[in-house]
Amino acid sequence: MKLKDKKNRVLRDLRISVTDRCNYRCIYCMPREVYQKYDYLKHSELLTFEEIGRIVNIFSELGVRKVRLTGGEPLVRKDIEQLISLLAQNPELDLSMTTNGSFPTTRVHSLKDAGLKRLTLSLDSLDEVVYKKMNDVDQSVENAMRWINECEKVGLGPIKINTVIKRGVNEESILPLVERFKGTPYILRFIEFMDVGTTNSWKMDDVVTEKEIIATINSKYPLQPIAPNYSGEVARRYEFADGSGELGVIASVTQAFCGACSRMRLSAHGSLYLCLFANKGTDLRSMIRGGASDEEISLFIQNLWTGRSNRYSEERSEAKTNTDKVEMSFIGG
Ligand code: GTP
Ligand code: 5AD
Ligand code: SF4
Ligand code: SF4
Repeated sequence: MKLKDKKNRVLRDLRISVTDRCNYRCIYCMPREVYQKYDYLKHSELLTFEEIGRIVNIFSELGVRKVRLTGGEPLVRKDIEQLISLLAQNPELDLSMTTNGSFPTTRVHSLKDAGLKRLTLSLDSLDEVVYKKMNDVDQSVENAMRWINECEKVGLGPIKINTVIKRGVNEESILPLVERFKGTPYILRFIEFMDVGTTNSWKMDDVVTEKEIIATINSKYPLQPIAPNYSGEVARRYEFADGSGELGVIASVTQAFCGACSRMRLSAHGSLYLCLFANKGTDLRSMIRGGASDEEISLFIQNLWTGRSNRYSEERSEAKTNTDKVEMSFIGG
């Protein structure tokens, strides 16, 4: 089935937040002042793995082929491997996860064994001082680097590595990261600091734009733009002119990509969101816990998608954006 929204965009991806908690306090996502004492979801509010499995089956019938587990930090959710095993029973799904790579690397094996197909790791710097400034919990780069190696060993790699750049904090980390991963099959992706949520004190001055990022790299390692792998890819791809691989930039602030946005998002407490920048979701959990049938749930989702016209990043540049937005740690990026 191909489900289209009001702007003719097909539903293809489901991003599932499995927890709103994280062991990091990245300054651009969960600033310590706000998240140290926070009203996190209670366990009883979270969807169970069985409930998530059922929802994913319904989405799969509706044409969803990409499922990404996010958080907060998905590994904070106990026994997440059990959910992966459940979802991996559907071989049609491109099942991936985004993690900060702070847990013991034995988890790489358990994730792979459970049936995870791909993994993306967040890594904001190779410099210990800067990395710690970004995560604000004294975590070291070392463990994340171990994850990268372990993923390759178990066949989860070569993985993608996401780096958020915030002006005045880690723009000096761009070139060292490029130098570390250039010539390897890893795909480094720089992300413009986004105005998700309302707690990260976002301001445009703190955004290092795609143009600046590319100019920095290009001055030392000439790049040329290349075509996307698939329509709707969020990262804009560049290859090194000397043939030593590629990198990407996710430029949601300066180069909106709403035109092909195929993503629905499910929060840990079972609400559906039509946009990363939406201010409210639509409750699915009470429907499920109230005994709705698969057909009823499916119709409910179909109605949501066919009525969708969200395009926040495009509207941002038109300066008509809402100010009451869901937090990134809640909806998972
Ligand atoms: P694959 O193509 O499946 O490898 O993943 P992806 O390119 O969708 O990448 P990933 O899930 O790692 O997303 C990277 C980052 O892009 C996220 O952490 C978000 O910061 C941002 N992002 C992803 N989807 C959207 C979106 O729909 N809107 C906006 N504004 N940003 C997004
Ligand atoms: N801007 C851009 N990216 C963000 N992420 C979290 N908060 C922001 C933000 N404000 C990214 C992280 C990670 C993913 C979970 O979302 O770097 O790659
Ligand atoms: Fe945690 Fe990822 Fe947010 Fe950092 S960006 S606080 S690692 S969820
Ligand atoms: Fe999709 Fe909203 Fe992101 Fe635009 S801003 S790409 S509509 S999630």
